[in-house]
Amino acid sequence: MENLLDGIEEVLLMGPGPSCVSDEVYAALSKKTLGHLDPYFVKIMDAIKGQLQALLQTENRLTIPLSGTGSAGMEALFVNLVEPGDNVLILKNGVFGMRMAEVATRLGAVVDVLEFEWGTPVDVDAVKKQLEVKEYGMLAVVHAETSTGVLNPVADIGKLVAASPCLYLVDAVTSLGGIEIAQDTWHIDALYSGTQKCLSCPPGLAPVSLSPAAVEKLMKRQTKVPNWYLDLSLIVNYWEGESRAYHHTAPINMLYGLYQALRLILDEGPEMVYQRHRECHEELVVGLGDLGLEMLVDKPYRLPMLNAVKVPQGVDEAGLRRRLLNDYKIEIGAGLGPLAGKIWRIGLMGHTARPDNVERFLRALRETL
Ligand SMILES: Cc1ncc(COP(=O)(O)O)c(C=O)c1O
Repeated sequence: MENLLDGIEEVLLMGPGPSCVSDEVYAALSKKTLGHLDPYFVKIMDAIKGQLQALLQTENRLTIPLSGTGSAGMEALFVNLVEPGDNVLILKNGVFGMRMAEVATRLGAVVDVLEFEWGTPVDVDAVKKQLEVKEYGMLAVVHAETSTGVLNPVADIGKLVAASPCLYLVDAVTSLGGIEIAQDTWHIDALYSGTQKCLSCPPGLAPVSLSPAAVEKLMKRQTKVPNWYLDLSLIVNYWEGESRAYHHTAPINMLYGLYQALRLILDEGPEMVYQRHRECHEELVVGLGDLGLEMLVDKPYRLPMLNAVKVPQGVDEAGLRRRLLNDYKIEIGAGLGPLAGKIWRIGLMGHTARPDNVERFLRALRETL
């Protein structure tokens, strides 16, 4: 019988994620599967916690990868830290802020949404004014809005909530591993990410980190966490302490992959990795400009790892993506929501962010246009 896996060809992943995976991470994924309570595996789990703490610049003890994609990380933090009736402020300037509002609303929170034009960043003054009007139990924002290519001022927003009891939640799905995150200095109480963007692992894990204030909120809940699988008060018993207790069977090989991916970033040096992302982004923007293409986002707010480019008049948006994939084995992304059909999203995430990939893409784009 035909084996469909034999037909898989290598594609240069330059969309909004997943990104390219290095040979070292593929090799890690194919190591022998250990038991989820095997002491050697527990050693690897402990190492991953330390690696994540280093990359996030945090002392938070509760820093672990959850089983599930970035959305599971989002859902986990909201189900653990929000109770019915809590006041939650969501800052929305793209699809993922919108998703956070949906998740919080389903939990019975009183959700206020401050919306900013898609393609522009969150306005810190507007947030400040809103915090003067009403007290919130949680403020949530997306660091790197993958749907628009906008970098939000996460550190500045953190200063606004630093001295208040309001928990500060940040989506770092696209930012982690591509730009600096200083979780403790920026006063972030709860952060989630995903493995398939700048960490350059396949999708399937969601690193999360909770500050002592967030853990206190979790421990002092009036109501049970309404989702058993994502209940962090249960999951910690598998990730912490001398004797580890079964909660669910961890995705062992995915965790090998994450361990290796984090090793690669920490060995190269996070600063060097961020610089590589910036340099590739700059090279890409110059090349796009030479082709007469315009960026969606103003220069100071552009993400290095996700480049939103306006589709020129008269160009078949989907047709171009199809040709890049069929003829050049390069994948780029389409626009989402109100930006569907209007932009392409070109990812330079993690292992993908290399000058030879930028050059190969620009050559292919020139020929295709
Ligand atoms: C900023 C952001 N948040 C959340 C998600 C959801 O992650 P996943 O698709 O891994 O569930 C994504 C995915 O693209 C994202 O870019």
